[in-house]
Amino acid sequence: MPKILLLNGPNLNLLGSREPQTYGHTTLAEIEHAAAKLAATRGVELESLQSNHEGVLIDRIHARGVGFIVINPGGLTHTSVALRDALAGVAIPFVEVHLSNVHKREPFRHHSYLSSIAEGVICGLGPAGYTAAIHFACDRLLAPQA
Ligand code: DQA
Repeated sequence: MPKILLLNGPNLNLLGSREPQTYGHTTLAEIEHAAAKLAATRGVELESLQSNHEGVLIDRIHARGVGFIVINPGGLTHTSVALRDALAGVAIPFVEVHLSNVHKREPFRHHSYLSSIAEGVICGLGPAGYTAAIHFACDRLLAPQA
């Protein structure tokens, strides 16, 4: 069965209570549950991992075993060359997701180390951004091979 890895970085475990004016009231458990359900309806397996530790995310990326990655790197978006290198190193296609529209926020959030090697970037749509990314990932995984 094709498989998606849904990764969430630092502080996203606090979704639901963290700065709700920016990130909304939906919890990460709700996002992960909805993503797994959506993937299952498309016949795709989904594994979720959230970590506040860069190395844990990198180790999971290195372990491979998935055909597509959906990642909200949280604050690591704007700081982590290492996370970018891990994604580039395994060459697994990925979509970068942000709940908030980072381009409407502080200038330091306007740069992403990941965007230039991502298949696409979704930001500002709240939890719907994950839904769109999972649909895209399923389309890619289920597309007949050329
Ligand atoms: C975020 C945006 C980042 O700038 C921030 O550090 C986060 C969450 C988002 O989902 O909007 O932790 O990735």
